[in-house]
Amino acid sequence: MDIADIREAAELIRTGGLVAFPTETVYGLGADALCPKAAKKIYAAKGRPSDNPLIVHIAEYSQLSAVAREVPEEADLLARAFWPGPLTMIVRKNQSVPSETTGGMDTVAVRMPSHPAALGLIRESGCLIAAPSANVSGRPSPTEAAHVAADMDGRIPMILDGGPVGIGIESTIVDLTEEVPMILRPGFVTAEMIGAVLGREIRLDPGITASDSVIRPKAPGMKYRHYAPKAELILAEGETERVIAEINRLTEEKRQKGLRVGVMAANETAGRYKADCVLCLGPQGDGEAAARQLYGTLREFDRQKADIIYAESLTEKGVGAAVMNRLCKAAGHQVLYV
Ligand code: TXA
Ligand code: MG
Repeated sequence: MDIADIREAAELIRTGGLVAFPTETVYGLGADALCPKAAKKIYAAKGRPSDNPLIVHIAEYSQLSAVAREVPEEADLLARAFWPGPLTMIVRKNQSVPSETTGGMDTVAVRMPSHPAALGLIRESGCLIAAPSANVSGRPSPTEAAHVAADMDGRIPMILDGGPVGIGIESTIVDLTEEVPMILRPGFVTAEMIGAVLGREIRLDPGITASDSVIRPKAPGMKYRHYAPKAELILAEGETERVIAEINRLTEEKRQKGLRVGVMAANETAGRYKADCVLCLGPQGDGEAAARQLYGTLREFDRQKADIIYAESLTEKGVGAAVMNRLCKAAGHQVLYV
C-alpha cells in the first residue's frame, strides 16, 4: 500500500463508495459517515441489521464537535489519554449525522484510530468515515486483508492491505451520555484505565456479561451471536488438568460420532490434546497475544472444517477480559465448568 492507493481509496469514499481499510484493532469497512446513501451501502455489503449503528472515525479531535451536540468533559480527558487509539466514545449526536449512520439512535459512536493508513484515508478523503468491522455480519472480525477478501469479495471495490493488525479485537466502547460513564464493549483500553483517567468509578453494561436473553445490552451490536466461527464453540473453565482431561474425553466422544473436533489452547497445553485440529492462542496468561490471534484462529477452524471446537478459557486480567467477552459471545455463552 502506498500513497497512490490511499488517494484512490479516498476518491472512492468521496464519491459515496466503500473501501476496506486497516485500523490498529481490526479491519474496517468505510464509507462517508455524513452521506445516508453511502452508509446504507455498508449495511447491504455486510448483511448487517439496520438498527445496528456504525462507528464514525475521525482524524482530528476538533472533528468530534462536528458530530456531537455537546462534547462532555470526560471526552476531553479520555481523548487526551487514549486518542488516537482503540477507544470509542458514545456522545449525543447533532443534526449533521444521518440516522442511517446511527441506526436511528440519537447518539453517535466516535473513534480516532491510530493506524497511519486509517488516518491517511480520513484526511485525504476530507470525510468522516463510518466503519464497522469489515466482516460479513456475525462472522469473526477481520484481522488481515485476506479475511476481508474472504468475506467481501465481489461486494466492495477496494481493500487497503496494511498487513496483520496490532491489537486484533475491536475497540473499547464507553458511553458518555449518562450520569455514570459505562463500558458497552470491553477492549484493549480497560475499565481500570478509563476509571483512572476520569478519577471516578465507571460501570460495566450488565447486558454484556449476562447470557443473551437475560438483559439487553445497550450497544445494539452486542446482542447478536457474534464473532462466531461456523462450528459450534464450547468454552471449558476450571483447573487446567481437569479441563484437559474433560476436553480429551469429549473429543473422543464426538469423534466416535464422526465429527471433526477442534481445540483452542495455550502454547503450553496444546500438545496434550488429541483433537483433529489443535490451534494455539499464545502463551498462558498473555492476553495481548490471545487478542491478536483470536479471530484468525476462529477462521482457521472453519478452514480446517471443524464441526465442534472446545476452547480453554483465559485469565481475565487486562485485555484478557475483552478476549473472554468475545469468546463467550462466539460460544453463545455455552460454558462447561469442569
Ligand atoms: O475497533 C473498532 O471499533 C472497529 C474498527 C473498524 O474501528 N469497528 C467496529 O465496528 O468494531 P462494529 O460496527 O463492528 O461495532 C460497533 C459497535 C456495535 O456493537 C454497535 O452496536 C455499537 O458499536 N454502537 C455504535 N454506535 C452506537 C451508539 N450510538 N450507541 C450504542 N452502541 C453503539
Ligand atoms: Mg463488528
